[in-house]
Amino acid sequence: MAETIFVGVAWPYANGPLHLGHIAGAYLPADIFARYHRLKGNKVLMVSGSDQHGTPITLRAEQEKKSPQEIVNRYHKEFLDCWQKLGISWDLFTTTGTSNHAQTAHDIFLKLLKEDYIYKDAVPQAYCPECQRFLPDRYVEGTCPYCKFSQARGDQCDECGRTMNPSDLLDMRCRICSATPSFEVSEHFFLRLSAFEDRLKSWVREQTHWRQNVLNFTLSFLEGGLKDRAITRDIDWGVTVPQPGFENKRIYVWFEAVIGYFSARKEWAKSHGDDAAWQPFWSGDAKSYYFIGKDNIPFHTLIWPAMLMGYGGLNLPYDVPANEFLTIEGKRLSTSRNWAVWLPDYLQRYDPDPLRYLLSVNMPETGDADFSWREFLRRNNDELVATYGNLVHRVLTFTYRNFDGAVPAPGELDSQDKGLLAKAQETLQDVDRLLYGCHFKEGIKAAMVLSQEVNRYLDDKAPWKAIKQNKQASATAVYVALSVLAALKTVLYPFLPFSSERLHKFLGFDGSIETTGWQVQSPVPGQKLLAPEPLFHKLDDSIVAEETSRLGSGESSESE
Ligand code: MF3
Ligand code: ZN
Repeated sequence: MAETIFVGVAWPYANGPLHLGHIAGAYLPADIFARYHRLKGNKVLMVSGSDQHGTPITLRAEQEKKSPQEIVNRYHKEFLDCWQKLGISWDLFTTTGTSNHAQTAHDIFLKLLKEDYIYKDAVPQAYCPECQRFLPDRYVEGTCPYCKFSQARGDQCDECGRTMNPSDLLDMRCRICSATPSFEVSEHFFLRLSAFEDRLKSWVREQTHWRQNVLNFTLSFLEGGLKDRAITRDIDWGVTVPQPGFENKRIYVWFEAVIGYFSARKEWAKSHGDDAAWQPFWSGDAKSYYFIGKDNIPFHTLIWPAMLMGYGGLNLPYDVPANEFLTIEGKRLSTSRNWAVWLPDYLQRYDPDPLRYLLSVNMPETGDADFSWREFLRRNNDELVATYGNLVHRVLTFTYRNFDGAVPAPGELDSQDKGLLAKAQETLQDVDRLLYGCHFKEGIKAAMVLSQEVNRYLDDKAPWKAIKQNKQASATAVYVALSVLAALKTVLYPFLPFSSERLHKFLGFDGSIETTGWQVQSPVPGQKLLAPEPLFHKLDDSIVAEETSRLGSGESSESE
């Protein structure tokens, strides 16, 4: 039975270029997962969009003396270009700036207000007497009350990951001028998170299939008790508050950004030509997966579920397979110090699949993982090119030249032939199970082992030698090898879509892999091959020094 899978992916702030941390953290695993499920014949809806509100955007705009809208437009366009080049296969990538999103946010806000899950209160708001303005959370810095990290921001501590209100900080200061903020009374709306505490506790305890880090983080967060949270702000950039007297205030970015998952449904359904097409993805047996980095865990395992519980009638997250962080050359990624590999730069210089490969085998799934250019080069040259690419090229060119450019008919199969074909089937099942459970790293490793096995098989059978004395034996070995390459293009497709599609064509198959499904599609004897070309290219050692010298230098590219 086909499954229905909703894939929500963190909405990136449109305030700077994407970097490898974003890709390894959320976008690549989500895309692997979506491609896998589509191949399985399941119904998939994968959505996200530019998060265009919040102080990350306004801080950047102030820095560049541009309007927030200009900043957002520039990066949204760049994101779309990156997705296309990297092969992130969205069903919809929109923005939080659409009127559809504002309407949906208003709808949820008003429903929660009606149910008394949102209430109004007059509260002291951080106000900088020097700058003479209310300070959004991220404009207030201080010491984290939980872990005592000295650079915590008013919304969240980057060290321990806890979320908080600015007034929770010890030694508060204004981020702009370092003055000590005062608190001025202002009216705001609050989400009554405390009302969901028991329901969330019992729901979270049932999620034993969640990753250990996600479950533990969420449970310890719940231990501390859930405090109601202000969901409006004294700012003028964001989604308006649908209540009189709030004309100069806006909905807090986190409250409306997560609603994007739900507002996207409508835009997608419309573009799909069926306004009701979204419904199966949000109810019944559908499973919703949220791919995010670990700093976003509480918003997806507690706050968004609470909002959904309050709204009613919609599926709660089934899984939130949050990844850990990606370090760069052994150091914590920092956008402000330019210690980052920027995706547009990468895509300008290299092909997408080698990056997808490296970040898959080295995914920060169960712990932090490191990206280094030396490792990138090694994995490309010694694994992608040497183990897989050369294998493919060797078999295809040999067949093309010696068997009239077509798949030869095999003779009788011996146990070694049968053993390898069985191994291909087994790999298909193993990778299936691993990807189903979001074990991406193990999945690609299992696929690459199959490629090693074909190399070993060919070393034994040596069809290049056999062709002189026994053409039939050579044909059999070639046929078996081509069949296993056909399995490899399938199991590797979620990870390496570009090279898999090319291999699909070189093997003489029609159409695209996506329509063939998750199966070992054996080539038919007589099937015409396409003139082969190498799938991957060896990279020169010099790129290691060249690329590492770019790190940490030049202008800072982001405000965070
Ligand atoms: N823009 C946020 C970030 O980059 C993520 C928002 S995820 C969402 O950290 F679901 F809230 F949209
Ligand atoms: Zn100030």
